[in-house]
Amino acid sequence: MINKNKLWKTHNNLSLEERMEIVKKGPIPSHVAIIMDGNGRWARKRALPRIAGHHEGMKTVRKITRLANRLGVKALTLYAFSTENWKRPKKEVDYLMKLPQEFLETFLPELVEENVKVQMMGNQQQLPSYTVDAIKKAINDTKQNNGLILNFALNYGSRAEIMEAVHHVLEDIRNGVMNEKLLNEETFSRYLMTKQLPDPDLLIRTSGEIRLSNFMLWQLAYTELWFTDTLWPDFSEHHFLEAVESYQKRSRRFGGLG
Ligand code: FPP
Repeated sequence: MINKNKLWKTHNNLSLEERMEIVKKGPIPSHVAIIMDGNGRWARKRALPRIAGHHEGMKTVRKITRLANRLGVKALTLYAFSTENWKRPKKEVDYLMKLPQEFLETFLPELVEENVKVQMMGNQQQLPSYTVDAIKKAINDTKQNNGLILNFALNYGSRAEIMEAVHHVLEDIRNGVMNEKLLNEETFSRYLMTKQLPDPDLLIRTSGEIRLSNFMLWQLAYTELWFTDTLWPDFSEHHFLEAVESYQKRSRRFGGLG
């Protein structure tokens, strides 16, 4: 009989490079989406202000982006700010709005160098101009890149996205741009903010919460879900590989018998 504990220990003793090489031999999820949760709790455990947790979370974004790119993941969508996050204290919202700028000021040269292509999905209109400008610059500076797509979900909410798509479809039908008879799941998908992306193969949520929180409800229909108690600032490359390993062990049937 296989001793699971022994296997697990052996696995954990592998270096990151060794573990990566093994993972790369299996199927790599094309699109990974992450609900980065637990920054506040990470800070509270250290008696730090919540924004310190977000700052630390930003470093995890860099780490995981680099790893995903090296693994050959095609797209990484990160839930950085939801349409519901405006309810947080102003000081925290202000800080979260400054994070893309801070992140990109520091890491944009590295993203350009590493062939990462930055994108964003979400409602830009309510965002401060400095947030939009930072993202637009990153999108522009990386538009020729063809490596990992780093897609920030910023001021994003899935129900709002679907409603907006419905209105857009109706408008196109009224204007004769769209034929009602051609409306199906595939054509409707093109009205969503993810129109250039495949649906995620793997969703990761950190911090022990087991819910979707209005994130990519349409796109996650057949996605493999992976939850961990680890708080986002503590989420390491090994945790990401663990999620991919778990994905590799699952058999995806998409409703069929496989
Ligand atoms: C959820 O943790 C996290 C957020 C609402 C913000 C996520 C943002 C980052 C990780 C940084 C983003 C970086 C860039 C580059 C845009 P929480 O505050 O809800 O944690 P809690 O549940 O423990 O309070």
